[in-house]
Amino acid sequence: ASVVALVPAAGRGVRLGADAPKAFVAVGGVPMVRLAVDGLLASGAVDRIVVMVPPEFVAGAVALLPPSDSVDVVVGGAERTDSVRAGIAAAPNASYYLVHDAARALTPPALIARVAAELRAGHPAVVPALPVVDTIKSVDAEGVVTGTPERARLRAIQTPQGFAADLLRAAYAADLVATDDAALVERLGARVRTISGDPLAFKITTPLDLRLANTLLGHPAG
Ligand code: C5P
Repeated sequence: ASVVALVPAAGRGVRLGADAPKAFVAVGGVPMVRLAVDGLLASGAVDRIVVMVPPEFVAGAVALLPPSDSVDVVVGGAERTDSVRAGIAAAPNASYYLVHDAARALTPPALIARVAAELRAGHPAVVPALPVVDTIKSVDAEGVVTGTPERARLRAIQTPQGFAADLLRAAYAADLVATDDAALVERLGARVRTISGDPLAFKITTPLDLRLANTLLGHPAG
């Protein structure tokens, strides 16, 4: 039963304010997409990796990724959902998919292995989750608070998110957009299991995140 990791790396990274797409920004001197792929390989839990990048970055991605028959680069899409859909199409024979953001470049390989192990144990949808530290509120279009969900019942969701392949394909058959893959699977009524996430699996999104990641890798100056 083959485990295929799909790595969305086609975002423009507007919030990071860098001049390259986010996945190609270096952290500790190494592009985030390379760190993410190295982590997946180090987990020992993945048979094949498909990386989705902007069209003009395909050749560049091939050059900076480890030369391996099990790593492929394909063109992503305008929305993250489109990028994942392109990855699924490039790996139609998978038994399981792990969808893992390139921007979560410091994700410990052990977390990746735990998600894969839960899939193999028979859970069809598995996501890493952490308690939230801030109180989260919903707001209306004017920014006026409309509600405060009970914090103890909220989780921040990370990647890799693991799915039985048939389930993820079914979720992507509907032409919907979501900010994570589990949301599409939830719409089908499937049970999504959470496991303990890892603070190091944070998504490098803002300039502060980039400083934190560089510091953690011993390159405080970038
Ligand atoms: O924008 P966000 O932070 O949610 O992006 C999460 C991941 O999805 C990033 O690794 C980004 O490169 C990827 N992405 C993508 N295709 C898009 C938008 C985002 O692969 N069109």
